[in-house]
Amino acid sequence: MTNNPTITELSHEDRTFPPPEEFAANANATAEEYDKAAADRIGYWEEQAKRITWDTPFDTVLDWSDKPNAQWYVGGKLNAAYNCVDRHVENGLGDRVAYYFEGESGDTRTITYSDLLREVSKAANALTELGVKTGDRVAIYMPMIPETVFAMLACARLGAPHTVIFGGFSASAIADRVKDCGVEFVITSDGGYRKGKPSGLKSVVDEAMVDCPEVRNVLVVRRTGQDVDWKEGRDLWWHDVVDRQSETHTPEAFDSEHPLYIMYSSGTTGKPKGILHTTGGYLVGTSFTHWTVFDIKPESDVYWTAADIGWVTGHSYIVYGPLANATTSVLYEGTPDTPHRGRWWEIVEKYKVSILYCAPTAIRSFMKWGRDIPAKFDLSSLRLLGSVGEPINPEAWMWYREHIGGGRCPVVDTWWQTENGSILISPLPGVTSTKPGSAMRPLPGIVADVFDDEGRSVEPGNGGYLVIKEPWPSMLRTLWGDEERFEKTYWSQYPEVYFAGDGAKIDRDGDFWVLGRVDDVLNVSGHRMSTAEIESALVAHPKVAEAAVVGARDEMTGQAIEAFVILRESAADGGDDVVSELRSHVRSSIGPIATPRSIMLVPDLPKTRSGKIMRRLLKDVAENREVGDVTTLADSSVMDLIQKGIAES
Ligand code: WT7
Repeated sequence: MTNNPTITELSHEDRTFPPPEEFAANANATAEEYDKAAADRIGYWEEQAKRITWDTPFDTVLDWSDKPNAQWYVGGKLNAAYNCVDRHVENGLGDRVAYYFEGESGDTRTITYSDLLREVSKAANALTELGVKTGDRVAIYMPMIPETVFAMLACARLGAPHTVIFGGFSASAIADRVKDCGVEFVITSDGGYRKGKPSGLKSVVDEAMVDCPEVRNVLVVRRTGQDVDWKEGRDLWWHDVVDRQSETHTPEAFDSEHPLYIMYSSGTTGKPKGILHTTGGYLVGTSFTHWTVFDIKPESDVYWTAADIGWVTGHSYIVYGPLANATTSVLYEGTPDTPHRGRWWEIVEKYKVSILYCAPTAIRSFMKWGRDIPAKFDLSSLRLLGSVGEPINPEAWMWYREHIGGGRCPVVDTWWQTENGSILISPLPGVTSTKPGSAMRPLPGIVADVFDDEGRSVEPGNGGYLVIKEPWPSMLRTLWGDEERFEKTYWSQYPEVYFAGDGAKIDRDGDFWVLGRVDDVLNVSGHRMSTAEIESALVAHPKVAEAAVVGARDEMTGQAIEAFVILRESAADGGDDVVSELRSHVRSSIGPIATPRSIMLVPDLPKTRSGKIMRRLLKDVAENREVGDVTTLADSSVMDLIQKGIAES
């Protein structure tokens, strides 16, 4: 941390969008939620736990005596899979669709809650036959297909925590995770479809298994039909083992604090952190937020989180939250531009999707491709739009609202982290007047703040570090096998307060603006500025599709602003003129202090597989250093392209 705690406020947003009257009149959440939670926070969380069916009621809502290790709903017992599946069938909803599955190559499957119960029961029986026991960790490395959900819920049903590894990760990433949490059982598929081609998954697992002799079985779903190597005794086909199982399985109730899953989060540096979520609090947090933030009407909505199940967004808002609320969801296997750039909008039209949740990186790609593409489809079923994963630039927010939401859908910018388990800061769509680019307010029951270096709340209009001052039900419980790192990473900056690692600002109205990772904040002549604000100013220019800003060493000013810009496809590649035009645009829209020292036009930006810009690598380029570790990049050739472009210019 530096000694200068304030982040200079560069811009103020005056555009506000009140909730449409009709939306507000029918909304799940009303403004009273905030008052109720403020008056009695613990009572509020006790109330929210009624969304879940408990086998044994809890006796204490929160035990926070062993800080920072919180326990929620102490003494309660439940089964997560029962809550996501069985109880809905018992309540007469067996014929409701749980998932409309859309494969990338156009194959489809419709899975009702009765289907889900049957498939999950068979999978749980199969895992039991293969010796998976309560407490065993199971790794899942799969494409976005229904069996991925069956496998996760089968694990939950048995109390065997799953660790889902994103299907784009390498063999060494699999081996690291498998070893870190002592996995002996892996579920994968022969492959999946990506950008129109079958990609291999089993082959990557095979490579990882060379380093993981303790894995006794690899259960393989047939998806693509491609050839795979086979290790007798270890490898088993899903259809050989699961298909012949009994269709009934009695779920056992587990302690509220029983581990539900481990999700590895790579972070920008260091070895991945095994973030542990437990059962009761996580289910309460995901079903509560899915109900209030997405205003879900399970009997009529078609809900779509366009993210991968391999990330926490998929865990919480494709699987656990929506299923706990008996929702009908879309599950889409592929990429947004296969076989064409209108694929998402075709899916919205086909299934009459009413709620869409996605990441700013996707929205910026759609902006780059142009508004004519979504305009060709009927998007009138949409009634609510969500964003997650990064600060959303105000211009991207406006574009999303206009060109996807037809100007009528509330936009909810939701801030949370893998560690949080569920959304913590977001507008309530029937209550909050939103501002483009702001996540607005902590949800009812969440106590968030922005601190300076000394742990004092900053005054409105100022920036500092985002913190959560009270525990919440879906918080991480520890880092798997590394309690020390858990305490150091999140609880050592301020006593008894959760440190999120994000810079944030509270504006004059008291609304929150998340400015990105603390490591990304830059300092020019003693002014701490957020990369997000300067990037947003660039993206607001009609010729710019995406921008990344870093602080590079500068003898005079400490750091100087270096910008990397992707032009929109409609803007011809325009050399020096565009660059000076953009520099003066930033100067006039936010001020001379924010003017980039240089702007480089690039064909692409380095991003992680979850779509976050890796500014660290751009900083290496800007400071003329050898580019650091690129193994977590979605496309490692991007850095070569950028460097080549710079060498030629
Ligand atoms: C980090 C967490 C939680 C689901 C996906 C990401 C950034 C996330 C927002 C937002 C500004 C955001 C933060 C956070 N982030 N949502 N709405 N506005 N920043 O999970 O990979 O654990 O990343 O993503 O920097 O700390 P994750």
